[in-house]
Amino acid sequence: MSMEWTDHYETGHPVIDRDHRDIVDIINRLEVELDTENPTEISGILCDLTDSILDHFGREERMMLKIRYPEYGAHMLSHCRFFAALTRFIYVFETDQATSCRAMHAFLTDWMVGQECSEDQPFVRFLNAGYPDDTGR
Ligand SMILES: [Fe+2]
Ligand SMILES: [Fe+2]
Repeated sequence: MSMEWTDHYETGHPVIDRDHRDIVDIINRLEVELDTENPTEISGILCDLTDSILDHFGREERMMLKIRYPEYGAHMLSHCRFFAALTRFIYVFETDQATSCRAMHAFLTDWMVGQECSEDQPFVRFLNAGYPDDTGR
């Protein structure tokens, strides 16, 4: 089932929210491609996904360092743990495609709605309290 972006997931930061929507779009592309079971297409989407996520994590972490966000260490660790788990899923997919793809999609959906958005919201509140004009670029 496709992820629907709602206001509930918004952090209020235009760059972070745009990144999140872009990542959700890629997760939804992945879901569509699961039905076709085309490994080349799925591998291409996974490359887009990892590129977008790494870009996004780097952007957030640079913003956190810049404002000395007190939860930077915990947030960065959360990013690292997620990416390590995603990397394992991708490795399993590349070696045993039939068994891992739907589990990977469910993992990505749970992470986006259950972790990343909710962990970014307090960061953006902190950011907006002192750095209202920071765009993250
Ligand atoms: Fe984020
Ligand atoms: Fe984050």
